Amino acid sequence: MSEVDLKSDFNRQLNQELRNAYLYLSMAAFFESITLPGFAHYFSVQAREELEHAMKFYRFMVDRGWSIELQEIPKPKTTWSSVLEAAEDFLSAEVENTKRIWRMVDSARQAGDKAAESFLQWFVNEQVEEEKNASELLARVKLVKDHPAGLLALDRLLAERK
Ligand SMILES: [Fe+2]
Ligand SMILES: [Fe+2]
Repeated sequence: MSEVDLKSDFNRQLNQELRNAYLYLSMAAFFESITLPGFAHYFSVQAREELEHAMKFYRFMVDRGWSIELQEIPKPKTTWSSVLEAAEDFLSAEVENTKRIWRMVDSARQAGDKAAESFLQWFVNEQVEEEKNASELLARVKLVKDHPAGLLALDRLLAERK
């Protein structure tokens, strides 16, 4: 893994964080459309966090003097057959993202880039939190999915996310 490959990995991950922001914003809009405003709020906060992640990559690359080439962001999924399906998509997107981050740590190590490795460590830790949040949400959705009163109670809880 050369420094050139590492730079393109960073460009790709900047795009990936934006894709995730897009996916979660699309989920937020979906939840608005089915009148679950707490879920919608939860995913709009999640989308904002992904934008912040993208900006961390952006800032690191600028600080290193690496060139940034923004790529296309494909249209995300816009509808889900159930709340459960959306929660499952959330968890799989985060599991996938963890794999990407871990692969990048290996790349940074192979390139001998200590700064990149140290930078990525924040994301390694962040992904533990992200997977925990997504697993927890999925577990809660499984608990209440067949009980409208439970689903509405969960919706009110999710509305409190900061
Ligand atoms: Fe992220
Ligand atoms: Fe995430």
